[in-house]
Amino acid sequence: MTVDLTTQIRPAGEAATATAVRTLRDGGLVAFPTETVYGLGADAANAEAVARLYRAKGRPAFNPLIAHVGDLAAAQRIARFDATALALASAFWPGPLTLVLPKAPRCPVADLATAGLDTIALRVPAHPVARDILRGFGGAVVAPSANLSGHVSPTTAAHVQSDLAGRIDLIVDGGPVEVGVESTIVGCFESPTLLRPGGIPRADIERVLGSALAPHYPGAADGQPLASGMLASHYAPRARVRLNAASLTRGEALLAFGPVDLAGIDTAAAVMNLSERGDLKEAAANLFGYLRALDASGARTIAVMPVPDDGLGEAINDRLRRAAATQG
Ligand code: TXA
Ligand code: MG
Repeated sequence: MTVDLTTQIRPAGEAATATAVRTLRDGGLVAFPTETVYGLGADAANAEAVARLYRAKGRPAFNPLIAHVGDLAAAQRIARFDATALALASAFWPGPLTLVLPKAPRCPVADLATAGLDTIALRVPAHPVARDILRGFGGAVVAPSANLSGHVSPTTAAHVQSDLAGRIDLIVDGGPVEVGVESTIVGCFESPTLLRPGGIPRADIERVLGSALAPHYPGAADGQPLASGMLASHYAPRARVRLNAASLTRGEALLAFGPVDLAGIDTAAAVMNLSERGDLKEAAANLFGYLRALDASGARTIAVMPVPDDGLGEAINDRLRRAAATQG
């Protein structure tokens, strides 16, 4: 495993964009901000670069990547869009939506990046730094979240550094991200399917579709690829995560939401509140950073107060469930 690179960290700006583009062209690995989380980019057409990316993350090669492009026209050179896909793309791109579509006939993306599937996940991010890099590079950039496989996704350049320093070439620091949870992934199959809840609430997508998204059953024997964070245990801090906490045991850290009135709060090892005013957008933006911070407090267990499941709450609860899943 290559773990011996010098990782440059550059503040976002023209110089950093130029270095990022050059590094991608040379087959290097570049972490950059998107509005959801930081991504770790590689030239999607360069199989060797894609292989390095899997290695740097320690990601299993059966887990396919999202190809990022600058606009819909570029996306249409990579995948086939039906009317539904076009409707979703025009409603939500650029933005935190990923579409899984049939590959175009001469799809330029390396097979390794799609784990041999005949579908591909595509996204047009809205973050200005991501857009500048994609525009400068021209081609598609595959970019998983810029964390070690299985860890909490990064919402700051410092998070990326703590997971990947020495394993990648460049980190472009564009400050903390805005959304804080990954993109919503919709499979444009016969029935549009919610593969991963994320930065665009389900209801917004269903409003555009005029119908409900089909549920996704990971591992169902329907030939559909496993999708989304996929592995039940993911986004995992070192500490144990205990959901729906109604009280605290001595020494536990608390990840709170809304007003806090828990028995045992006075003995908490640490307390962080996702949103004191109970705002789900604010909570999503704070989620991964607070999980990392509470993990670093050294508490053995992070107790989490219930978070409502509407709007962005569906994505937050999905990530919390995965963080809580016991590891095999
Ligand atoms: O917000 C995001 O989506 C971030 C930023 C960096 O764009 N990216 C991200 O990538 O979350 P990653 O690799 O951590 O998650 C991508 C998910 C994976 O769980 C993968 O299984 C799924 O997308 N995926 C990729 N291609 C797929 C396909 N053809 N069919 C079904 N699922 C796919
Ligand atoms: Mg990820």
